[in-house]
Amino acid sequence: MTPVEVLLQEARKALQFSRAPYSKFRVGVAVEGTSGRIYRGCNFENPSLMMSICAEKVAILKALSEGEEGIRSIMIVSSEGGYCSPCGSCRQFILEFSPKAAIYLASDKGIKKYSIQELLPHAFQK
Ligand code: THU
Repeated sequence: MTPVEVLLQEARKALQFSRAPYSKFRVGVAVEGTSGRIYRGCNFENPSLMMSICAEKVAILKALSEGEEGIRSIMIVSSEGGYCSPCGSCRQFILEFSPKAAIYLASDKGIKKYSIQELLPHAFQK
């Protein structure tokens, strides 16, 4: 398996742990830290919907809070089979905490690769 295939397999594994009873839209993410270790994340919803936490944030924070210095790549999949593009809040989050990461979106049709500079042009920065 290629490194991207391994990341996809891990992101799909993460789908099973998602708690999305309100939207029924499960998101699975796998990130590779600069050490080479892979961390999974999934979305967690709350009946007070604004409190829901996106899968990307869970995976990135797991990696960084375990001591990773940076994130090399991020793989995002959803339970719906189509491409799941990161939400606006996650884009701002990725820019702050993993600006150099390759961002892979996987669907039934294949894998697309982006940088955060492509997904969030003209970003707010201080
Ligand atoms: N979601 C994510 O986990 N990541 C994204 O980038 C897009 C949206 C979640 C939030 C919510 O639990 C569900 O997908 C969509 O309603």
